[in-house]
Amino acid sequence: MTVRVRGIRSVAIDVCAIDEAAAFYADVWNLTPVAHAGDARCLRGTSAYHHILSLHAAALPAIRRVMFDAADHAAVDALHARVRASGVACEAPHEFDAPGGGYGFGCKDPEGRNLGVACGGETHAEAPAPDRPHKVTHINLNAADYDAATRFMCDVLGFRLIDETVRARFLHAACPDHFSLALVKHENATLNHIAFDMIDLDSVMRGAGRMRDAGYPVEWGVGRHGPGNNVFAYFAGPEEIPLEYTAEVLQIDDSYQPHGPEFWKFPPGRSDQWGVTDPPTPRLARIQQLFGFSNDGDRT
Ligand SMILES: [Fe+2]
Repeated sequence: MTVRVRGIRSVAIDVCAIDEAAAFYADVWNLTPVAHAGDARCLRGTSAYHHILSLHAAALPAIRRVMFDAADHAAVDALHARVRASGVACEAPHEFDAPGGGYGFGCKDPEGRNLGVACGGETHAEAPAPDRPHKVTHINLNAADYDAATRFMCDVLGFRLIDETVRARFLHAACPDHFSLALVKHENATLNHIAFDMIDLDSVMRGAGRMRDAGYPVEWGVGRHGPGNNVFAYFAGPEEIPLEYTAEVLQIDDSYQPHGPEFWKFPPGRSDQWGVTDPPTPRLARIQQLFGFSNDGDRT
């Protein structure tokens, strides 16, 4: 059976004003600070992962690394063999000494993104709770070489192309979530957005209110997407990083029937299923291509 990643463990981002960013992700975004090591701050959600977001002080805002989850050491080693065989740069698997630990490796993909695969490490027991992000449920990455990026994610990391619109491919990992990664057709390999899973629609709505109160208006939403059927609200977070609160992501199994761009068309003037939200703001469109991958994450 093909070894596959299981979704996203954590995302590391570079920020210029780390104290302000740390306060935002704790007090407004509602993550829980869990570790403070050197210039890095780690924050957790209610999922078992030690942390789901790390902040790193840097001269420029950027995305530093996306770390995917694997089932165990054998899965990490098997995925590492495929990554190495694909010809991209990668570390040997090792025990991490960063907060939370774990066993895994960092690698580049064909477009130079810093990715990684890991298993194990510290966990914590907490029940999903209203208003608290559970995990990073998906990340959307802009891809300049759309087909090469798709091939790497599917043939090397084990994602399955599950649905496709005119401008995005939705990739399903070895977990029930409809998708954990989407590739967006674009001119450059940048971050499109990071999505944090909430327990329900009310938590997305109250989160949108909390963001408005803190000076971060909704840039798109609240609405319900086509592929994945998830409800959404998008924001320009600190240093204009594109963030999403989402909920009710469709849970699927191998019987799911994928659909293509003809199926996933909205009627003219609509950008979601409900037809209540305006289209994304020009600001959101602008920032959904601002964040490149930094080179500061060359070591996990
Ligand atoms: Fe999203």
